[in-house]
Amino acid sequence: MPITKRMRAVLNAHKPLMDFITQSTYAERSRDPDIFDFTFGNPQEMPIAGFADALMKWAPPENKDWYAYKLSEVDACSTVAESLTAWRKVPFEAADIALTSGAFGAIAAAFATFLDPGDEVIYSLPPWFGYEPMLLQTGAFCVKVPVRAGSFDLDLAAIEGAITERTRMVIVNSPNNPTGKIYPPDTLAGLSRVLTAASKKFGRPIYLLSDEPYSRLVFEDKPFYSPAAYYPYSMISYSYGKVLLTPGQRIGFLALAPDMPEKEERRAQIMTAQIACGWLFPNALLQHAIRDLDALSIDLAELERKRDLMVEGLRGLGYEVHKPDGTFYLLPKSPIADDMVFTDMLASNDVFVMPGTICSIPGYLRIALTSSTQRLEQSLYGFAKAIRARPTGRAGR
Ligand SMILES: Cc1ncc(COP(=O)(O)O)c(C=O)c1O
Repeated sequence: MPITKRMRAVLNAHKPLMDFITQSTYAERSRDPDIFDFTFGNPQEMPIAGFADALMKWAPPENKDWYAYKLSEVDACSTVAESLTAWRKVPFEAADIALTSGAFGAIAAAFATFLDPGDEVIYSLPPWFGYEPMLLQTGAFCVKVPVRAGSFDLDLAAIEGAITERTRMVIVNSPNNPTGKIYPPDTLAGLSRVLTAASKKFGRPIYLLSDEPYSRLVFEDKPFYSPAAYYPYSMISYSYGKVLLTPGQRIGFLALAPDMPEKEERRAQIMTAQIACGWLFPNALLQHAIRDLDALSIDLAELERKRDLMVEGLRGLGYEVHKPDGTFYLLPKSPIADDMVFTDMLASNDVFVMPGTICSIPGYLRIALTSSTQRLEQSLYGFAKAIRARPTGRAGR
């Protein structure tokens, strides 16, 4: 079947994930209501109170244009800019907000605007698995640099060493999926120095895409440091799908950093990219409802209790697991070296997690904490049975 070379590269890169979704034990049982499904960050409980009310409140049309084509509507952009300004304590302008179909749409718009075929984009491993297919689709090259072992912090020396004259963008995802790490100010200031020096050396700016869809999901009131606050050539991609746990209702944004140079031109270019890429704007109803939606959140205290329940529960069973700073994922080590095999052992006990191999971190397991406390608690029995059944000796840890 004739397909483009670019699409073939995308299919190859996506194959492990697609095989997992379509051909694994998970594929066979993903619709079984009895399984503990901790695989993707999909909601496993009813949506938060207030979400449907907000949509119903804004559904009745108030004028003939209510459901007309919508770009980034001024009122909705103002809501986002006010919210970001209050939260980040730096002034964001409404005109610097492009409303998008989630963070996916924001990332696609940033790639379409700033990347030419052959440009190199650096990001750290383990990454969110969406970057690679999206970059290959634009014709850019993925340059992957592991984070520092143990701390999961960015490895600045490795990033610096990976920069070439073709580097056009660096992506940083904080809080990180899947490690849960919030990168500290020193690291971000260091990254800014590296990017500033390299941009000067090669005579063109290296852009920073700060992918922050989990920035409201932080534990213990930890401060969140936006990578975009440290470097002028920055953009923030964001999604409401995480904080509201409604990923099927697609709204997010791409925000230009307040001190981004040549902002006026950028605004128009991004809007054009959104159209050219197939209308990457959120639907009209979500834009009307944004002021109400922006005020909502899943219960963060409850999410933190879930994290603690699982971290302590798993540690008690002999799993090695660190406490994430944010997101709704845990990343325990697989008790045996082959995480694909251990994922199957968990599956035979009705517990479904993402093997680390799929997220480019072999030897680990990713657990989404989007189930009820009761379901998480009940799953510990399956985690216990699987770790007890692991082969010991040379292959085991
Ligand atoms: C790091 C990261 N970026 C972007 C996205 C895309 O978010 P959305 O599907 O809400 O657009 C995700 C979703 O899992 C993510 O984890």
